[in-house]
Amino acid sequence: MTDTKNAPRVLVVDDDSNLLELLSMRLSTAGYEPAACADEETALAQVQNSIFDLAIVDLQLEETDGITLMQKIHAECPGLPVIILTAHGSIESAVDAMMKGAFNYLTKPFDPKELLLQVERAAENRALTSELKRLKEFIGQQFEISNIIARSAGMHHVLEKISAIAKTDSTVYIQGESGTGKELVAKAIHMAGSRRDRPFVAVNCAAIPEGLIESEMFGHEKGAFTGAVKNTKGLFMQAHEGTIFLDEIGDMPMLMQAKLLRVLQERKFYPVGSEIAQDVDVRVIVATNKNLEDEVKKGTFREDLYYRIHVIPVYLPALRERKEDIPLLTRHFIDRYNSRMNRKVSGLAPEALHKLMMHDWPGNVRELENTIEYAVAMTQEGFIDEKLILSTKDFSADALQPQPLKQARDEFESGYLTRLMQFTSGNVSRAADLAGRYRADLYGLLKKHGITPEDFKKSV
Ligand SMILES: Nc1ncnc2c1ncn2[C@@H]1O[C@H](COP(=O)(O)OP(=O)(O)OP(=O)(O)O)[C@@H](O)[C@H]1O
Ligand SMILES: [Mg+2]
Repeated sequence: MTDTKNAPRVLVVDDDSNLLELLSMRLSTAGYEPAACADEETALAQVQNSIFDLAIVDLQLEETDGITLMQKIHAECPGLPVIILTAHGSIESAVDAMMKGAFNYLTKPFDPKELLLQVERAAENRALTSELKRLKEFIGQQFEISNIIARSAGMHHVLEKISAIAKTDSTVYIQGESGTGKELVAKAIHMAGSRRDRPFVAVNCAAIPEGLIESEMFGHEKGAFTGAVKNTKGLFMQAHEGTIFLDEIGDMPMLMQAKLLRVLQERKFYPVGSEIAQDVDVRVIVATNKNLEDEVKKGTFREDLYYRIHVIPVYLPALRERKEDIPLLTRHFIDRYNSRMNRKVSGLAPEALHKLMMHDWPGNVRELENTIEYAVAMTQEGFIDEKLILSTKDFSADALQPQPLKQARDEFESGYLTRLMQFTSGNVSRAADLAGRYRADLYGLLKKHGITPEDFKKSV
């Protein structure tokens, strides 16, 4: 470590001037930049005025003890690794210091090699922590609401709802066909709320085998079952103070549904094999591509759980119901894959875009994304032409074959009703006037299409 420009800065606090000098000298020789302080006041002034990578603090200072000083330093500079110097035999205080957030301790008199080893570890830890923070900020930006493409009225409505509910802690219920952006929306809600610096834990309930799901969710005690060789923290605990995203909740086995209901009611759970309840503070977001009301009727989803999770519903419209989003989404994905694949595709030929607009997109945004990824990878022209789009999948049916009239009419009706609800903010009487129908008729139509006027009311 000879590059003084990047030399890690070490705050050293000791009232023994000889030791202070010795420590500073050792650190400088090893390439660090020490700031020597003989008392608390000087040390705190230093922390307030400059940036440090770590601190070494003597446990027994004249006017105060090192642990209290460490806590004051942490109040200014959370996460700064602090190494505590203890006198021989005061191991209890050293342990106490560790419990209160010290990075490590050194017993005096210490071996110079041991000192440098500890300091190096602390500096490394500091570098890693700030890298993590930078990554988190990056992810935060990635999932800012502004990253969700929403030109259509349907998606605008979704965004408005996200902004309104992000600051609350209520359970959110996201329903949408596969590939409509459920996970993206769940992350955006997390990132827009006060839990953004805490974990977002996504669980695909359909992907965990039935026999393992409880221990995956709640963790287990060592010896709880064959193969449980140590205590394991479950996904709920990993999400503590953050958000747990239960994806495909409709596929959760019945037994697990009962246990989940209990956690949601009591905010505590029992790890498998343990009799001690653990408290957990999580925001819950669930997603499903099924209509869970139907599952309740069929008896495959618990009704009580449905009402517990169906607190704030967010419905993501299928891409075919908001085709006006296609041009912007396409641009967004061209940019994404240009940067991931280091390509410079400029755009799309008008006929190619026309093909994309005509398609029905059963796989929704994800299908569109895959199509664009393929096209960006394959194009030799610097832009995406119609031929390339046609080669990605069979678009022929789109252009040649009109839909059956009933399907076309249903689609139109559903889109019309959604726009009507948006326009009137869910006011059915006004909507009935505008549509020239009786209120009761309109209610019937809304019900047929599963559209709930309450979802369009301005306040959520
Ligand atoms: N409105 C949008 N703006 C930008 N990107 C989007 C939008 N909607 C979806 N995407 C992108 O489409 C892909 C699929 O979205 P996501 O995984 O959130 O969908 P999903 O509903 O969870 O899908 P599945 O049901 O397949 O799990 C992701 O890459 C996501 O970033
Ligand atoms: Mg998903």
